[in-house]
Amino acid sequence: MTPRIKFLMCAPDHYDVDYVINPWMEGNIHKSSRDRAVEQWQGLHHIIKEHAIVDLVQPQKGVPDMVFTANAGLVLGKNVVLSRFLHKERQGEEPFFKAWFEENGYTVYELPKDLPFEGAGDALLDREGRWLWAGYGFRSELDSHPYLAKWLDIEVLSLRLIDDRFYHLDTCFCPLANGYLLYYPGAFDSYSNRLIEMRVAAEKRIPIEEADAVNFACNAVNIDHIVVMNKASDSLKARLGEVGFQVIETPLTEFLKAGGAAKCLTLRTTEPVREELHANVYVESRILKIEGHLLDSGLINRALDLIVDNGGSFQVLNFSLGEQRQSTSAAEVKVSAPSHEVMESILSHLIDLGAVDLPQDERDAKLEPVEKNGVAPDDFYVTTIYPTEVRISGEWVQVQNQRMDGAIAITRTPQGIVAKCKLLRDLEVGEEVVVDVLGIRTIRKTESREKRNAEEFSFMSAGVSSERRVELVVEQVAWELRKIRDAGGKVVVTAGPVVIHTGGGEHLSRLIREGYVQALLGGNAIAVHDIEQSMLGTSLGVDMKRGVAVRGGHRHHLKAINTIRRYGSIAKAVEAGIINSGIMYECVKNDVPFVLAGSIRDDGPLPDTQMDLIKAQVEYAKHIRGAEMILMLSSMLHSIGVGNMTPAGVKMVCVDINPAVVTKLSDRGSIESVGVVTDVGLFLSLLVQQLDKLTSPYVTKAR
Ligand code: ARG
Repeated sequence: MTPRIKFLMCAPDHYDVDYVINPWMEGNIHKSSRDRAVEQWQGLHHIIKEHAIVDLVQPQKGVPDMVFTANAGLVLGKNVVLSRFLHKERQGEEPFFKAWFEENGYTVYELPKDLPFEGAGDALLDREGRWLWAGYGFRSELDSHPYLAKWLDIEVLSLRLIDDRFYHLDTCFCPLANGYLLYYPGAFDSYSNRLIEMRVAAEKRIPIEEADAVNFACNAVNIDHIVVMNKASDSLKARLGEVGFQVIETPLTEFLKAGGAAKCLTLRTTEPVREELHANVYVESRILKIEGHLLDSGLINRALDLIVDNGGSFQVLNFSLGEQRQSTSAAEVKVSAPSHEVMESILSHLIDLGAVDLPQDERDAKLEPVEKNGVAPDDFYVTTIYPTEVRISGEWVQVQNQRMDGAIAITRTPQGIVAKCKLLRDLEVGEEVVVDVLGIRTIRKTESREKRNAEEFSFMSAGVSSERRVELVVEQVAWELRKIRDAGGKVVVTAGPVVIHTGGGEHLSRLIREGYVQALLGGNAIAVHDIEQSMLGTSLGVDMKRGVAVRGGHRHHLKAINTIRRYGSIAKAVEAGIINSGIMYECVKNDVPFVLAGSIRDDGPLPDTQMDLIKAQVEYAKHIRGAEMILMLSSMLHSIGVGNMTPAGVKMVCVDINPAVVTKLSDRGSIESVGVVTDVGLFLSLLVQQLDKLTSPYVTKAR
């Protein structure tokens, strides 16, 4: 027995589940038995008293959760940081705990109001006193952590909780004597798990399974070699036994109904200070400005969600609301992150959102040299589809060849500094690459509501359309196609073989013939099946007129391939009169360039298919340049490839029967992209009909 160790507990005289502030309390209002609760609490009290001194704080009416003294505050030496409860249901406990601490000679620190922190429920000292683990995500704010470091003069390691069943750090994390750690990894985000793994050696970590976690096995009281908890599986007991701990189980099921167990019911009030250690905190904060149609466009929600989803936290310091429909709003937001690394990732996401300004960031972009051809420095900034500028020697330089998933390469020429989006493989020694997130901004149009609605392509939500919306979309696409064609613009089509199988071949052929398509991008298959249909009337062996499989038809496409191979190219076969209809025929006849990118599953391939994928990508990119609209017709592979190469501002229409494909493209988040979930053959037939309707006596058809 170590008499020096003291705990604070609070008898369950007024304990009950009176409200719901965590998932355990749901369905349990007034379902706990007072008698059983008293009995269980006494059981725990008895065990702890055998190993330590227990002080008691007077229970109070109206604050049933006061039994959970872990949430009174966080003690270190003679200092205590008083809890500031998130929920008003528990705020009534604060004065009672404060009085107890003061009466017992502690110096009480109180956080600014509106900065929640729930004491030892969310902050656990390493049992060797080396540092403090502090949780955030549900009850305590990340911004409280720097106060803990300052007031208690200790290093604070922030851990983010992501599973609401484990809303307090002590529900899923329990530092043990000798540097051991009992914890449930599933309750933390990956960054936090990495931090834990960096600080606690593998042989000292005791990760538990969900089954033990939901029995609150981590909510344990550790005094030297004993570990007191509600319940543990045999394997957990054995595992703890191996490293010298003895588990004492004591049922606390009545308290589980409120979301607490052994540890929650106690507060260790003797925590020795290690004088040689001092404050250290990794939490970083930055103030940024966001401007635009913050409310109408949902930009503010997206920005704030993004901060939280990426492990940060925020405070809105200022919000000036644009009052008129046309006026923009501005917000000043303080972003906090548990580390520089997380801050960087949050900022790079915010940069991608555009309209975000880091006022204190009038700094140049950080550059690092390319040390090996085709390889970027580790920390390189990954580009997006949005127009981007980088600040170099005090000037903002526009990045050329914007596309996503590239790096920004900087070269200094006699004419000035050139910034270019480049694929990793194209980087060359002698160039420099933008790293980190400093001095980078993306320009996103903040259109007013009016303007957005006036746009023909006002699919603001970048949503997925299903049958009901198909017609509407078709009308808009037809109108747009017509406009672009008549103005001599450029439309690129990427298409998969499903276009042929669903009977869309004739319609697409017509679009090409009538001048609506300026380039066709696809794979081997679309050309093969188009040619098969033209030569043999089948598509993958199915008779396209009758819709039935033709005997031996599965060989048809190989015959088609063989024929083209004999002639040397599609164009030569057209010339020889072997092919006289179809998509490929129209491309050749109308001088519409096409690129067929090969893949591992290609039969043949056709002589025109580019099996060198790097060359195929280059060819694709060349044809996309200058496009105003891209029609993506049932080809996940080629559509996504094209999406990656295309800068924002190009209208994209993605048609696929599989919603997943459509969503993937719409996820680009650019307002110009629209997804249509429907049969592509049907879509094309409606589109052609609609184009016919648009033909007025005043417009001469190109036919
Ligand atoms: N019902 C209480 C709450 O939700 C339970 C607190 C448990 N305490 C703890 N340290 N985990 O706040």
